[in-house]
Amino acid sequence: MSRPASTDEGLKFLHQVFGMKMLHLGLFTDEMPRDLHGVEAAQHEYTRTLIDLIPEGVETILDVGCGTGDTSKKLLEAGFRPEGLSPDPFHGEKYRETVGPESTFHLSGFEDLRPGRTYDCLLFSESPQYIDKDMFFPKCLELTRPGSCIVLADFFQKDHDEYYLKAFVESDFRGRAERAGFEIAYHRDITREVLPSLDISMELLRYGQRIIHYGEDSFRRARPLLWKIVKMIYGRKLAKARAYAYEDLPKRLDSARFERKMRYAMYRLERA
Ligand SMILES: C[S@@+](CC[C@H](N)C(=O)[O-])C[C@H]1O[C@@H](n2cnc3c(N)ncnc32)[C@H](O)[C@@H]1O
Repeated sequence: MSRPASTDEGLKFLHQVFGMKMLHLGLFTDEMPRDLHGVEAAQHEYTRTLIDLIPEGVETILDVGCGTGDTSKKLLEAGFRPEGLSPDPFHGEKYRETVGPESTFHLSGFEDLRPGRTYDCLLFSESPQYIDKDMFFPKCLELTRPGSCIVLADFFQKDHDEYYLKAFVESDFRGRAERAGFEIAYHRDITREVLPSLDISMELLRYGQRIIHYGEDSFRRARPLLWKIVKMIYGRKLAKARAYAYEDLPKRLDSARFERKMRYAMYRLERA
């Protein structure tokens, strides 16, 4: 079972504060600027490249973990018949705005979906890591038929360790795919092409940390007593938020570490 429907505040923040329509790391080419404009261009390139992997003959597509719907919109424009799926109600709202009021959106985790039908293609754009690993391929089998395919992009752990635990270990993922009867028809390593997004995010995080420091410092000086009370009441929550912003996130956004430990890959898997 996936977690009950709730809004992912991190993804909502990226969408609303940085205006990101797509919620993945993008695919940088040499000529793209290493700034937020570059991230937007890289995200378009990534989605275009992923859509190019869909084979001829595919009509119906389930966009699994569809985010705010930009990939589905591009699929629709390319002549496919996409449906969106996400357990996040905010994504449901945005999906209908982006893809159209007549579009089909499933408010559900992939693990829990029971649409009573199959699709020509399941598309995962940086969403496999959110899905229960033991349920991933059994559910893919339930929602496809022989001849269907899976097109996906995500980052994978190179080996088991404490880093990015949510992501599949790539060798395990490939083994599971083959045991379930999916042939690996295409694989491309795009790790180097996603690294600039991490560097840009790290730069933005540094600004965020300075803003937090400035806010706390100003509050403490202006209202010392109130600051003490706030710390007494919300001390634990504040400490947790600080640990996230100053320890956890910087580790995740460290591009050198990411390159050592992770592989970002695009796949097409075909069901025999
Ligand atoms: C990193 S975002 C990617 C969004 C979009 N595919 C894109 O490329 O912009 C991950 C997406 O997976 C969704 N998600 C989280 N848990 C899920 C689950 N159990 N099943 C399916 N999707 C899930 C999130 O709500 C979000 O829409």
